[in-house]
Amino acid sequence: MKVVGICGSLRKDSYNKKLLNLILKTLKEKGIDGEEIFWEDFGHYSQDIEDAGMPKNVEAFKEKIAQADGIVIASPEYNFSVPGGLKNAIDWASRPEADLTKVFGGNKVALIGGVSSGIRGTARMRMHMENICGDLGLVICPASILIATGAEAFDDGGNLVKDISKKQVNGAVDKFVELLGKLRR
Ligand code: FNR
Repeated sequence: MKVVGICGSLRKDSYNKKLLNLILKTLKEKGIDGEEIFWEDFGHYSQDIEDAGMPKNVEAFKEKIAQADGIVIASPEYNFSVPGGLKNAIDWASRPEADLTKVFGGNKVALIGGVSSGIRGTARMRMHMENICGDLGLVICPASILIATGAEAFDDGGNLVKDISKKQVNGAVDKFVELLGKLRR
């Protein structure tokens, strides 16, 4: 089995990048390979660009998702929702509609998690991301990873500090692995 990881933040010291790395490391320990895929060089989605020919970087991104059994998304919440850059990447990956089943179909599982700097976590990002992933045809892992106060969440080695956060991530990863096994294509 193989998963791809997508981070919603481009910040150099991103808490969500730390979370993504931690999840991919935990999956590796369970025998599941994960690879981060990147979207920062995508331009804004435009149907005119699509009609002229899908950009190569978008095609490569779509192909990696198509080959994966699951997707891990670790993203901040921006203004109560999904960061625009990440939404733009998903919009690109969802085109053309004829490729939707190939890229996102086949009982592909999405594990959604996030870290915020404040105390509110990323619950509204998750809520909106669930809608988006559901529309794409993904199976959403029901276990939440919602981590608040990002500045205090990780130690220098990128490990979570609080037991409650460790429990949350380990529990969600276990559930994700269980679903990946049950829905194996
Ligand atoms: C934020 N932040 C934020 N936090 C939150 O809990 N709810 C929110 O709606 C927002 N909105 C928001 C908008 C924008 C444009 C920015 C830049 C930031 C704060 C956010 O949690 C914080 O910047 C995190 O550190 C972002 O995650 P990374 O970059 O560390 O992964």
